[in-house]
Amino acid sequence: MTAQRTFRIAAIPADGVGVEVVAAGRTVLDALADASNGRFAFAWQEFPWGSDYYAQHGRMMDEDGLAQLEDFDAIYFGAVGWPTVPDHVSLWGLRLKICQSFDQWANVRPVEFLPGIQSPLRKADDTDLSWVVVRENSEGEYAGFGGRNFAGRGDRGEVAVQSAVFTEVGCERIIRFAFDLARTRPRKKVSSVTKSNAQQYGMVLWDDVFRRVAAEYPDVETESVLVDAMAAKFVLRPEDLSVVVASNLNADILSDLGSALAGSLGLAASANVNPERRFPSMFEPVHGSAPDIAGQGICNPVGAIGSAALMLEHFGLHDEAKAVQHAIEVTSGKGVRTRDVGGSASTEEVTAAIIENLLV
Ligand code: NAI
Ligand code: MG
Repeated sequence: MTAQRTFRIAAIPADGVGVEVVAAGRTVLDALADASNGRFAFAWQEFPWGSDYYAQHGRMMDEDGLAQLEDFDAIYFGAVGWPTVPDHVSLWGLRLKICQSFDQWANVRPVEFLPGIQSPLRKADDTDLSWVVVRENSEGEYAGFGGRNFAGRGDRGEVAVQSAVFTEVGCERIIRFAFDLARTRPRKKVSSVTKSNAQQYGMVLWDDVFRRVAAEYPDVETESVLVDAMAAKFVLRPEDLSVVVASNLNADILSDLGSALAGSLGLAASANVNPERRFPSMFEPVHGSAPDIAGQGICNPVGAIGSAALMLEHFGLHDEAKAVQHAIEVTSGKGVRTRDVGGSASTEEVTAAIIENLLV
């Protein structure tokens, strides 16, 4: 039987637990497709890129890798980075290369609190907490502008410059994206995060654009908060958050804090979106390759499976996305949890339980 719609997905498990969690997410999506009575199917192609590939070929991906990926409907990514390759080489050679070349300028990172999982925040027990970090994903502090020089000065004489790039177009599109997302949420509010007291050019431009765009969304509440104060707010007043929009570096840090507050880095999902759909978008857990627990079958697959749910949203399979999110909640609520969140279940057991709770 051929499916009515087949989504072509490029899987890049890459390194460490990335391999385990991508396998878990694929199993969940394939179970959904099997149960769809031919409404949809997923055609997977797996790419062997990552740190092992680097050891053999001296590069993180094929030379024409981007061309190979271009025509897929989406990319499902694990994690990249291994002690054998310098982190800036592995990250720039694969993940950042894909994000930047495919103009995946919006990185969406929901912070969800699951039943049965203890948060280090005491108020999470009796307060409904849910917010989304929207990260500018194409410029800012990760634009890759700068250099190292003056090697001729000899030992200890080197100089490095790392610049951040803020463009009005870049600020405006991510801020608009945040406002549009806020309109779809129960609490219509956008918190903008900068450090414009200390970084007086790029971040003040961001603040100016934020004020200008906000005026077009009178139905959405706003606030502007400095990044250090926002770090404190994540801990002290998270119930006041709905959509948090920030630059590349600031949102990277804040979203890890968010997932730690939700209970584990292993829970956090993310989408790297090219909203114009000129290129495939990429869906991946927030966490890295976790060399400390890789290969043991104990890593948490929830972040990767939640990312698969974001991919389903992107495909327009809204009911299916909700079903996956619901199955994740039922599973954690029933106590089927990996060790990082206080359980003893394996990656496979959690994945099987999510599938079971999906299909009932
Ligand atoms: P990490 O996210 O790999 O690990 C941090 C801590 O969280 C570790 O204790 C780890 O065991 C735990 N953890 C992570 N994922 C988990 C999961 N699914 N289940 C249970 N526990 C989990 O970050 P770290 O250690 O800073 O980086 C390791 C490597 O990953 C480095 O090479 C780094 O560059 C790379 N990295 C890659 C990312 C990506 O591909 N998007 C993101 C972050 C780091
Ligand atoms: Mg990070």
